[in-house]
Amino acid sequence: MKILVTGGAGFIGTNFIKYIIEKQPAWEVINVDKLTYAGNLENLADLNDQAKYNFYRGDISDKKFMEPFFKQGLDAVINFAAESHVDRSIQDAEPFIKTNIMGTHVLLELAKSYGLNKFIQVSTDEVYGSLGAKGSFNEESPLSPNSPYSASKASADLLCRSYYTTYNLPVLITRCSNNFGPYQFPEKLISLIITNAFEDKIIPIYGDGLNVRDWLYVTDHCRALEFVLLKGLSGEVYNIGGHNEHSNLSLAKKILNLLGKPQSLIKFVKDRPGHDRRYAINSTKITSELGWQPAYTFDEALAYTVSWYLKHQDWWKRITSGVYQEYYNQMYNMV
Ligand code: NAD
Ligand code: DAU
Repeated sequence: MKILVTGGAGFIGTNFIKYIIEKQPAWEVINVDKLTYAGNLENLADLNDQAKYNFYRGDISDKKFMEPFFKQGLDAVINFAAESHVDRSIQDAEPFIKTNIMGTHVLLELAKSYGLNKFIQVSTDEVYGSLGAKGSFNEESPLSPNSPYSASKASADLLCRSYYTTYNLPVLITRCSNNFGPYQFPEKLISLIITNAFEDKIIPIYGDGLNVRDWLYVTDHCRALEFVLLKGLSGEVYNIGGHNEHSNLSLAKKILNLLGKPQSLIKFVKDRPGHDRRYAINSTKITSELGWQPAYTFDEALAYTVSWYLKHQDWWKRITSGVYQEYYNQMYNMV
């Protein structure tokens, strides 16, 4: 199998490449990443001497740059490449439109021209919008995105769907809930709480802190993607989640307890505009049809993640300085 992984230097892409190279050593893996603020080649330095792994820096929306990868023949594409942070999309939606929509369109066009066996679009539960206190999203739930980020992902999903229906392109869409684990950029909630608490900085909690997210350990997401790659059916959507709903406030308290830090670090700040209240994923389809289920419990994965960040302070301290610091100061009025 020869697979093209886009966005492989980001959080989930990094974990996926490490996972799949170990699990499927005969596969050839091509990683194309633009190396935005969220891409970090340091994550993959241990793979540099792997003969079956190659990295190329480039933009998925640059058709000329992407064409040779498709021309030389691919079995599958797994499209992780995206602008992924909701708050950044609220500040400036343009890069989200360019990468998430136009970039995906370029990949679909090239796949249509040169052919392949599977095109996996790594999407998100956020395309379904917000839930009330009860219920969960299944694959038939209407798309109702509320942020520029989720609207861009929903647009890409619809383009993918149309390329299956119109051109019979073997597209599969996965919609996963919130991931956490090693290599997550510390702008996202769990990694932000751990790294801030470690340095006794405030933990900013939006609004009343009672918004709920459904968390999944990143390796379980990567395994689910492997299942979809091996057994998924063209034209299908697969939800991925582990039934781990937590309010942001309870999560912050849990992590502070794990670190032995005081709850007084929690600071309620202005709410995110259009903030989705609750996500919950029904993943019955991928479990019953493909046989996937999460391998890690939430508590063991959270404890491991906390210890990973404590052991890898150099990694996150390097990326939280510099350009990210400017974003952070502006976001949380720290100037
Ligand atoms: P991330 O922001 O950590 O990584 C994104 C990667 O894409 C980075 O390496 C970045 O350099 C690269 N990239 C951005 N624009 C690019 C472009 N134009 N061309 C090539 N590379 C580009 O994101 P993540 O959290 O790893 O998310 C990966 C994918 O999974 C995204 O598509 C996201 O929508 C989806 N997803 C994320 C979660 C989550 O909880 N993080 C949950 C469900 C789905
Ligand atoms: O659900 C999947 C999605 O999960 C992915 O598609 C996105 O790429 C990923 O970024 C994530 O989106 P969220 O907006 O849910 O994640 P984030 O970590 O930004 O926020 C999680 C919750 O925590 C959300 O309710 C907002 C809140 N929050 C976030 C930050 C950064 C805070 O209260 N304070 C914060 O400082």
